[in-house]
Amino acid sequence: MDQDLSNILTHLGEDRERGYAAVVPPIVQSGNFTYPTVAAMRAVVQQEMDKPLYTRGFNPTVGILRQKIAALEHAEDALVFSSGSAAIASAVLSFVKAGDHIVCVDKPYSWTKKLLVELLPRFGVEHTFVDGTNAENYRKAITPNTTFFILESPNSLTFELQDIAAVAAIAKEHGIITLCDNSFSGPLFQNPIDLGVDMVAHSATKYLNGHSDVVAGVLAGSHVHMRQVMQKEFMTLGACPSPHDAWLLMRGLRTLELRVNRSADNAEKVALFLEKHPKVKRTHWPFLDSHPQQALAKRQMKRCGGLMSIELDAPDEAAVERFCDNLKTFLIAVSWGGYESLQWPVCALKGPSGYYTDLPFTMVRLYVGLEDPDLLIADLDQALARI
Ligand SMILES: Cc1ncc(COP(=O)(O)O)c(C=O)c1O
Repeated sequence: MDQDLSNILTHLGEDRERGYAAVVPPIVQSGNFTYPTVAAMRAVVQQEMDKPLYTRGFNPTVGILRQKIAALEHAEDALVFSSGSAAIASAVLSFVKAGDHIVCVDKPYSWTKKLLVELLPRFGVEHTFVDGTNAENYRKAITPNTTFFILESPNSLTFELQDIAAVAAIAKEHGIITLCDNSFSGPLFQNPIDLGVDMVAHSATKYLNGHSDVVAGVLAGSHVHMRQVMQKEFMTLGACPSPHDAWLLMRGLRTLELRVNRSADNAEKVALFLEKHPKVKRTHWPFLDSHPQQALAKRQMKRCGGLMSIELDAPDEAAVERFCDNLKTFLIAVSWGGYESLQWPVCALKGPSGYYTDLPFTMVRLYVGLEDPDLLIADLDQALARI
């Protein structure tokens, strides 16, 4: 294991000499904190971002996790939120005001889209969605009031990428703030801050926690940007995590490297199997030779994670359902990043939100988890035969 990485995952911030000498970091399950004198309290009030006053602002357990996330994302600082959506919404809301314009990659995560389409227009903030496969589309969409770019590379259903360095460079030329949703890759496989982006967000629910038992989010960036988010939306919206969830996340981080590499190894085997199968019309996974942006993917991502989509050669929804219902190891569920392999059929989610109506009914998103890859491939093979 990489020395620096294992240091971050198991030692950074844990301060065993001054703490309880505990091998595992303590859960400080306290909502508020006390001081010996008025002067001591006054000093802490001035530094609420880094000192324990009230857990909505800072909590020692969450503080350890913040240091680890910042180090993993090569950022100066990080914040931890009660969900990935809270992290993204707080970051956007902290940097825009009425009259501003946001440029966002098309087909972002559904609740990022809802933020732009439904919430922000009520407060006078406009947006334009662009095909992010060409970075110049970001430039073309800039208006005199554009202040913010949103990237999500790759996105988590159709796996389209943005050239992160190119989009970040365009933003810098125009003094525009950038946020990249890095949930697909996680910090071990892609570091958008190294590519010039200002802030990185994750649904920590996915790989960072890794056990399908916590909903959480993180945001990483400069001290100045994190302070702005903390002092504005983070505190106002009360988007903090519970200390126990932060502790669970740190437990997950201990095995991050093992888990993501196993998921990536399995995903490669599964993707190569699916790509050749006659009942699969298309496999969307950025490291496949057939992916139109494979070269960019290999340039900006160290490895490719376990999430992919397939388009089945199925005549109707009933045939898709036969495939899905017959899969034994891939649980029918949203999200990803845990031990268990999952499937997410598009035909199950064409609800009133209408956000998935542009996707083919034959599409099924698969999360390739940590099970034996031969078991996963055998399971897919028998289910494909049912189409
Ligand atoms: C790509 C992506 N970004 C953000 C989120 C939001 O994260 P959370 O569900 O933790 O709020 C998700 C959740 O599925 C996601 O898939």
